[in-house]
Amino acid sequence: MSKILIGVLGTLGTMAVIAVVVAYGGFIDMAADTPHSPGVYRLIEFTRERSVDRRSQEVTPPADWSDASRVQRGAGNYAAMCAGCHLSPGVTDSEIRRGLYPQPPDLVRSVVAPSNRDRIAARRFWIIKHGIKASGMPAWSRGGMEDASIWDLTAFLERLPTLSPDQYRDIVEASEGHSHAGMNDGPAGGDPAHHAPTHEHHQKHDHGNPHRKQVP
Ligand code: HEC
Repeated sequence: MSKILIGVLGTLGTMAVIAVVVAYGGFIDMAADTPHSPGVYRLIEFTRERSVDRRSQEVTPPADWSDASRVQRGAGNYAAMCAGCHLSPGVTDSEIRRGLYPQPPDLVRSVVAPSNRDRIAARRFWIIKHGIKASGMPAWSRGGMEDASIWDLTAFLERLPTLSPDQYRDIVEASEGHSHAGMNDGPAGGDPAHHAPTHEHHQKHDHGNPHRKQVP
């Protein structure tokens, strides 16, 4: 074995030992309120974008993916399942969003360039279906959501940045609420309690401070 090879293997071995000691010793801070260093953040971001880009090339949007009926159906599901993290017109932050790291993108301000519509749609569909590892973004297909309902959400996301708070409320109220194929009680079924849009409840929720009342 040449000296160079022995040197390279020795260096790799030492690095592996250091990595194990650092991990075993608990020296890596996994807290969501301690940001990554900028270099690590950029590396993760780059890896995620390349990965999603590669995998979403295989997704072909159906011809009718942006139809008005899809937008309408997607609205109720968005309000029930996504708005808490990704916000809604007139709502600029939420408790859960503030604490998540990485922070969920504000999809109300995520406008799609017309030239890129199908590509962005494929990317969004892929992310909604499969989720993103080690972030708060769930793989909604695991929860039972079928492709057709994911396309409805993709259609709604394109419309979302154009909606005023009133238009958003109207479209959510006119939709079927939280209902999508793959829910517990069968296709297009769902828990009737979920059919009434509940976004107002989420927006008004207020903990107050129970201790305050005891202090004179
Ligand atoms: C618990 C919080 C949470 C919920 C609920 C949630 N998401 Fe996300 N979502 C995230 C996070 C965090 C990211 C960013 C992940 C990352 O950057 O690695 C994300 C990313 C995305 C993206 C990629 C956005 C972009 O432009 O890069 C889309 C699209 C998306 N979510 C759609 C949805 C939809 C649709 C729903 C509801 C069915 C939903 N999300 C529910 C947390 C959430």
